[in-house]
Amino acid sequence: MVAPFDRLPLMERYARHVLVCTGSFCSPSRQGRALYSLLASLLQREGLLFGPTRVKRSEAPCLGVCSGGPIVAVYPEGIWYHNVSPALLERIVVEHLKGGRVIEAAVFHRMGEGATTSGKDGSSR
Ligand code: FES
Repeated sequence: MVAPFDRLPLMERYARHVLVCTGSFCSPSRQGRALYSLLASLLQREGLLFGPTRVKRSEAPCLGVCSGGPIVAVYPEGIWYHNVSPALLERIVVEHLKGGRVIEAAVFHRMGEGATTSGKDGSSR
């Protein structure tokens, strides 16, 4: 029997959810931790913490990739970025999260596709 709930949790509307791996397998020096902190300030700077363009962020101990990190995934598009540096994270926030333009050269996977990677020239391998 399911216990009755007198009040449901509240989730404010959001447009995107960004997952940052902070684990050590994809990024041995755990640069993902610093990226996760930086993401908060970038989202605030770009006005993406509130309103209809709100972006949620979450850190994960592992996203199941475990190489080529730090790994950052953006949903609902299901776009996965690899080797994310602070400079690339800033581009992701400004160009993808705010501007809606995926940074193709840094994408290695898309939700719904098989195991693919894209080279810096955009070619699939
Ligand atoms: S430790 Fe980052 S994907 Fe597994």
